[in-house]
Amino acid sequence: MKYIIANWKSHKSREEVEKWLDGYQEKLINVGENQVVIAPPMPALMFVSNRLLQPELRHTKLGVQDLSPFPAGAYTGAVSARNLEGFKVSYAILGHSERRRYFHETHQEVANKVDQALSAGIKPIVCVDDEYITEQAAAIPAEQRSKCLVAYEDLAAIGTGKNTDLKQVQENFSVIRDAFGQVPLIYGGSVNSSNVSEYLAHCDGVLVGTASLDVDDFLAVVHAALE
Ligand code: PGA
Repeated sequence: MKYIIANWKSHKSREEVEKWLDGYQEKLINVGENQVVIAPPMPALMFVSNRLLQPELRHTKLGVQDLSPFPAGAYTGAVSARNLEGFKVSYAILGHSERRRYFHETHQEVANKVDQALSAGIKPIVCVDDEYITEQAAAIPAEQRSKCLVAYEDLAAIGTGKNTDLKQVQENFSVIRDAFGQVPLIYGGSVNSSNVSEYLAHCDGVLVGTASLDVDDFLAVVHAALE
């Protein structure tokens, strides 16, 4: 089973989300046992969640791009795991390098988010870069580490069109395996329809940013992934 995860980041208005979903519903092929995950911006969560109730989209799962490190309570602006109850959220992308860089997330905060996600039955997709794989793993209790998916994303490859050399990806996967155990390994960084099969031959899944924004580009990635 492969994971194809769309991360829309802070893109898209309500109307653009609806249009994307229309195109997706119309053109998606049968993905079999593979899992396509859509991680929309929070305000679009309800539309995407409702749309995924359609029987033909039952293999597409809902993800969030972040989660509060705290439980429900007096944390203005935060979206807690409790807030997500009833929306059928299956995955949470946690510790993305943009969250670390622009919102100053620490390894411990990411670990607290992992704890919140797991306690709500949401699978964490923990993002790591070469520099801190071991430190990030060390902040997460061992019994929780093995329940994560781990996405390796080199900063130089994110949003640049310069996808990471497979050899570098595999070297980092082996560090991830030592630190996290036998977890599903995801690659992210300028994945598109031309390079996705190369990565999927060696990874359990891909995290797709730019190429997930246009529905036809994303469907081309999904189709190429399943060939
Ligand atoms: P990209 O983003 O596909 O635009 O490189 C990937 C990511 O940030 O997860």
